[in-house]
Amino acid sequence: MPAIARTALTRKARAAGRTVVGAPALQAGHLWAEVLAEVPLFAGMSVRQVRRIARLCSAARFDAHAPIVEAGDAGEAFYVVLTGQAEVRRRRKRPVAELGPGAYFGEMALIDGAPRSATVVATRETVCLVVPRRPFAKLLKEEPAISFALLRTLAARVRELEASQGGTSEP
Ligand code: CMP
Repeated sequence: MPAIARTALTRKARAAGRTVVGAPALQAGHLWAEVLAEVPLFAGMSVRQVRRIARLCSAARFDAHAPIVEAGDAGEAFYVVLTGQAEVRRRRKRPVAELGPGAYFGEMALIDGAPRSATVVATRETVCLVVPRRPFAKLLKEEPAISFALLRTLAARVRELEASQGGTSEP
């Protein structure tokens, strides 16, 4: 089983995820800005930019074993795990990655417009921050640092995939 991809999210951010799901009235505004600022991917964004994105985010809670995105579907959103844990499954349902709080997924279909490359399933109750497709695409154009972070993640995934197939990343 691959190591769990996990990046630092403070207790405040995790608690915010729980609070927001329990109280939908809190979904808009500065609370999300605080949560976004805790996610390392968005750490370089200006306060103004974080607030703008925060207004477009929502939270979604998934029961254990529920699929969050399914391979072959159109990509409509980008996800950041706030609480819980999810598993990336490719062909033959084999798990290729586990994602914990602070990890993100769903960027590939949004970047290339192709169907989802894998299924992501909540392995226990999981709360995700959801950034819809359009604002996510705009964010990538306006924030090169975020695009670059995603590129690094994509490169790491290609290398892992090659290694798992017995190849190397050299030409
Ligand atoms: P997307 O193709 O939009 O939807 C499925 C997501 O699973 C994909 O984006 C990535 O975010 C994630 N994913 C796919 N393959 C891997 C992998 N090998 N390791 C980690 N995450 C992956």
